[in-house]
Amino acid sequence: MLLEVRELQVEFHTRDGVAKAVNGVSYSVDAGETLAVLGESGSGKSVTAQAIMGILDVPPGRIAGGEVVFKGRDLLKTKEDERRKIRGADMAMIFQDALSSLNPVLTVGAQLGEMFIVHRGMSRKDARARAVELMERVRIPAAKERVNDYPHQFSGGMRQRIMIAMAMALEPSLIIADEPTTALDVTVQAQVMELLADLQRELNMGLILITHDLGVVADVADKIAVMYAGRIVETAPVHDIYKAPAHPYTRGLLDSIPRLDQKGRDLYAIKGLPPNLTRIPPGCAFNPRCPRAQDICRTDVPPLFEVDENRRSACFFWRETLDDV
Ligand SMILES: Nc1ncnc2c1ncn2[C@@H]1O[C@H](COP(=O)(O)OP(=O)(O)O)[C@@H](O)[C@H]1O
Ligand code: SF4
Ligand SMILES: [Mg+2]
Repeated sequence: MLLEVRELQVEFHTRDGVAKAVNGVSYSVDAGETLAVLGESGSGKSVTAQAIMGILDVPPGRIAGGEVVFKGRDLLKTKEDERRKIRGADMAMIFQDALSSLNPVLTVGAQLGEMFIVHRGMSRKDARARAVELMERVRIPAAKERVNDYPHQFSGGMRQRIMIAMAMALEPSLIIADEPTTALDVTVQAQVMELLADLQRELNMGLILITHDLGVVADVADKIAVMYAGRIVETAPVHDIYKAPAHPYTRGLLDSIPRLDQKGRDLYAIKGLPPNLTRIPPGCAFNPRCPRAQDICRTDVPPLFEVDENRRSACFFWRETLDDV
């Protein structure tokens, strides 16, 4: 396995108390595989990614437990200078907002070239040539002419391609893309997602694709981990999830996707809001919003039940949920 996150716990110490942003999360991704991590805003998706990358804000954040095993080695026990070498070179991240992630006063060619100068000791001239190659690889038209442009001279979609180029410059084994298309309009979203999926296949990378939108991952993900209030509530191969969710929260997310065949119908929305993480409700954290909740849900925390070999659900009533298509 390329990356295995085991029982990860991350807390934030706030004025309101301790927020358990990541509360025992385990997931894994292999070379050539795409894991989509799904969940509403505030469920702990980005904090998990920051802990994996080693870019968590400490303080206020604190890793309270768990392991992040990358190529057989626990990164949480690895020294910072070692981690810095891994970051960028063997494990890279793509963020939602390219404009604030790229340096506004450097041309994109200089920024892409920098990767090769710093990590590969290339000359400025060779690095520039590699930058153009990279821009072509992410299908930026007229790359040779545009290599001297600044980030703000590109459209949102093209900027996101440049971020992808930066991330894959050194051909990492793992890329974490955190809401990479959320800021883009729908047609551009699909193109950028397709590009990412193509490159991932070509380079046989592991890809963790973080999103709040189940609609964008259907075609690209192999498996899905659904997060709610800092925990995984369901993991399954992507097709199984679309066929029949085994958790009421996943069901809710699925029913909230706009569908072409249901135009004009009111879009379903899960009622209520995710909990304040300093005051997670007792029992199943989803119980105040769950249409299926029973007494046991308000007292006992559901473990991750084994639905089948490849599938887990943290719901006492996963059987009933599966049957309810
Ligand atoms: N810098 C921070 N300071 C305090 N709390 C934070 C910070 N970053 C994240 N959190 C807490 O962690 C929770 C999960 O955040 P995040 O992982 O960013 O959610 P998302 O699933 O939307 O990516 C937030 O709701 C918040 O309570
Ligand atoms: S355990 Fe209970 S509250 Fe939680 S998702 Fe299942 S039915 Fe709903
Ligand atoms: Mg996030």
